Amino acid sequence: MRLALYPGTFDPITYGHLDIVQRALKLFDRLIVAVADSPWKQRLFSLEERLEMVREVVKGWDRVSVEVLEGLLVDKVRRTGACAVVRGLRAVMDFEYEFEMALTNRTLNPELETVFLMTSMEYIYLRSSLVKEVAALGGDVSCFVPPFVERKLQEKLGGAR
Ligand code: COA
Repeated sequence: MRLALYPGTFDPITYGHLDIVQRALKLFDRLIVAVADSPWKQRLFSLEERLEMVREVVKGWDRVSVEVLEGLLVDKVRRTGACAVVRGLRAVMDFEYEFEMALTNRTLNPELETVFLMTSMEYIYLRSSLVKEVAALGGDVSCFVPPFVERKLQEKLGGAR
């Protein structure tokens, strides 16, 4: 059984992330979407809210589970017995950051493999902060996030409209 871990902040989860989940399921038997606490990163949604959104939007995939990522990613990989970490690559701009992260993780655990999956062209420009900005300014984000997430964005940012 090949288990992989897909870590991220998911603030909030977008169709771009779901595209990566779908692609990862072609390569692995099971996938854990690991939602990082990332307390140093400025976030719109709390960890509980991000977990709720991720759980809701992946509930149709029985081979996907959702867990919290606390502490180091390499430790989570060891604990879960995952054989790889999955990350999405959108454009060249992602490469340097992902390269540094993958090599740091490999230094911490030489056994760890990171698998990069190319995001679909239609989501190549997508990032959570842009979605939040568009939503905060009253724009339509239905082509970027599932309806459940869209509602959560409206609830959270409704006052700003
Ligand atoms: N589609 C759409 N957007 C995507 C995307 C995709 N396929 N892939 C990444 N993004 C966007 C995200 O929306 C996010 O946008 P934002 O900056 O506007 O919020 C950005 O790219 C980065 O997001 P994400 O994939 O969530 O990565 P991250 O950098 O927030 O997460 C962790 C990094 C959580 C994986 C990393 O910090 C980690 O491993 N933490 C655990 C602690 C640890 O081990 N640290 C050492 C790591 S070397």
